[in-house]
Amino acid sequence: MKKRMTWVVVVAVVGVLTGAAFAQFAKTEDAIKYRQSVMFLVGQHYSRMGAVVKGEQPYNKEALEKNAILVESLYRLPLEAFMTPGSDKGSGMKADALAQKDKFSQMHKTTEAELAKLAAVAKGGDLNAIKSQFGAAGASCKACHDAYRNK
Ligand code: HEC
Repeated sequence: MKKRMTWVVVVAVVGVLTGAAFAQFAKTEDAIKYRQSVMFLVGQHYSRMGAVVKGEQPYNKEALEKNAILVESLYRLPLEAFMTPGSDKGSGMKADALAQKDKFSQMHKTTEAELAKLAAVAKGGDLNAIKSQFGAAGASCKACHDAYRNK
């Protein structure tokens, strides 16, 4: 019992020292599954807004705002999962993403900011502003995919 407690303390201390950044995932595959699941949801809710922006679906302020808030919140989740060492293998992410962590993280931050703006204009309810911000945010998604996602 005492031994086990010691281990818990050791693990906790190591976790703190490493910023606990990667301690959340027991296995590399979990990090991959985690980010792919999150990005799948991000993609689904982003496309729902896309259908409105393209005029395929009628504009409903409340529904669009919900999607914008969901995408903004979900997208805050996966950075650590992306940056988990070794997680390029067997995934759709290029090894460059891990080799260029700063650049990847910077692009992630840019998209976070674009999505926050999108949520704000969605709340405002001006469809033209929404369309234009949807395009800006989408361009930031594409920039990262072009650089770091396998085709
Ligand atoms: C900072 C880089 C980056 C940004 C920004 C980014 N993505 Fe991605 N995205 C990736 C990478 C890398 C993958 C591949 C992940 C993998 O296979 O492990 C991915 C995968 C995806 C997937 C596939 C998920 C699945 O089913 O496996 C979708 C959908 C997606 N992104 C949508 C988006 C949308 C929408 C945005 C913008 C709101 C966005 N992404 C912004 C890097 C990014």
